Amino acid sequence: MKVLYPGSFDPITYGHIDVIRRLTCRFPFVHVAVLANPGKQEWFSVRERIDMIRRSLKGLRKVRIDSYEGLLVDYARRLGVSIIVRGLRAVSDFDAEFKMSLANKDMAPRLETLFMLTDKRYAFLSSSLVKEIALYGGRLGSFVPPPVERALRAKVDSLKRIG
Ligand code: PNS
Repeated sequence: MKVLYPGSFDPITYGHIDVIRRLTCRFPFVHVAVLANPGKQEWFSVRERIDMIRRSLKGLRKVRIDSYEGLLVDYARRLGVSIIVRGLRAVSDFDAEFKMSLANKDMAPRLETLFMLTDKRYAFLSSSLVKEIALYGGRLGSFVPPPVERALRAKVDSLKRIG
């Protein structure tokens, strides 16, 4: 059975990577998909995000990475996937995830959302936090893999050049 792990991944962090690794131990195939979250301001293009995910998951088998412009339920239907997996960090995640999964269920009744608890090491970690730390030159090594750290540094440099 194939599962779909969607997210904005702007950028991917060790928290996401941990969920993906654990999914590959439980399911025969994991489809990682970059989708737009209109509620968030994106730093990286979809192509850049996919590239960072590819580099970060190098060597991990049974994973496919791509992107979709549109509703998650439409993409799941197109892929023939009936299980969406979302990571849950803390109670603060629950409200938004609860609403999203119920809305998705309303639009696609046969689609189930499974929640996987984030490892406690990454319970505080988010892409937004990582971007903020990068913006002020903080250490990123325990939050994101080296290719993502390099991309973040380059992005901060280019943002500073633009002013
Ligand atoms: O990593 P994120 O930002 O929490 O991921 C959220 C994401 C991208 C999965 C969500 O915003 C999404 O599904 N976007 C696609 C558009 C969509 O289906 N929106 C309706 C959600 S009820």
